[in-house]
Amino acid sequence: MTHRICLLPGDGIGPEVIQSARDVLEALALPLQWEYAGIGFGAYERFGTPLPDSTLEQIRAADAALFGAVTTPPNLPGYFSPVVKMRQRLDLFANLRPTISLPHPSSRPNIDLLIVRENTEGLYSGIERLEENGNRAITERVITRHASERIIRKAFALAAQSGRERVHLVHKANVLRQSCGLFRQVGLEVAAQYPQIEMVEMLVDTCAMELVRAPEQFQVIVTTNLFGDILSDEACMFTGGLGVAASANLGEDAAVFEPVHGSAPNLAGTGKANPAATLFASALLLEHLGEAESAARLRNAITTCIAQGLVTPDFGGELTTGAMTEAVIAKIQREIP
Ligand code: NAI
Ligand code: MG
Repeated sequence: MTHRICLLPGDGIGPEVIQSARDVLEALALPLQWEYAGIGFGAYERFGTPLPDSTLEQIRAADAALFGAVTTPPNLPGYFSPVVKMRQRLDLFANLRPTISLPHPSSRPNIDLLIVRENTEGLYSGIERLEENGNRAITERVITRHASERIIRKAFALAAQSGRERVHLVHKANVLRQSCGLFRQVGLEVAAQYPQIEMVEMLVDTCAMELVRAPEQFQVIVTTNLFGDILSDEACMFTGGLGVAASANLGEDAAVFEPVHGSAPNLAGTGKANPAATLFASALLLEHLGEAESAARLRNAITTCIAQGLVTPDFGGELTTGAMTEAVIAKIQREIP
């Protein structure tokens, strides 16, 4: 069965890392069909919006989408970040951020962690107001049973699928008694349906501390939007940071995979962009499409290149984006499928 993949290159180094991913995915000789859609500042200049409706339709129609990065100019009136809007419009409710040890000096050992972050509500619900002539600011934190249940179910289902034994339910229910209280309550209910998986509750501040102290104790963390945003950025630093951090955004009828980094305008056109983050995102995409074997081959190839120093300058190597791409392809082709 042919997989339809929608590529969203975006701005800055986005097109460079997406080209790398396409070249590497083609080397896996899978039945893939490509299409391109516009997003970001370049799309704004061409179509008058950074997120055309046609782009959303293409993502929905595809089996999966791979997104590079966009540049968001800070002071352009009427401009909005298409990333946040895309997640809302496609109801991409689950944000997945794996952190896995790499054979590299900047990586800590024995880490295999998946952070599952609620992506649609919490403190990022967008309900804010000013009172008292601007001297009192209020942001509402919305937590619903519906959104909590689907994200916690997703975390336990992923844990069960991947043979993990433990899920950390991270909250602050001792202080945020209503909103985190509801999230926690739903967590207890869902956990009861997975008796084979140990559920560990942890307060978010303790979790931030424990992550630094002993990250290898965590297998899956499920948490609300803002907490997950902060913890996942913290976690990606254990294995090398932005050059290798990848994420998945999953909804009921769309799936978008992306590197965590932005458009790095300072690197655009220099050949210094590390493609590894987008290649790891491509491995997540392959898993989502049911191509687990190819995903493992791809991951092995990237990891071998990292171990052998066949990497870009940010990771201590001397290769360009294109040369590292070729090195990954050479590793894939040397393996027996
Ligand atoms: P950034 O992630 O683009 O860059 C931060 C630092 O990491 C820079 O020093 C950059 O050179 C380096 N870097 C990033 N990706 C790299 C890669 N693949 N290889 C080697 N080095 C890499 O974040 P920054 O500078 O804060 O933002 C730049 C633009 O990107 C802004 O317009 C921002 O709005 C946008 N942005 C977009 C995101 C997205 O599309 N998902 C996420 C974050 C920022
Ligand atoms: Mg973040």
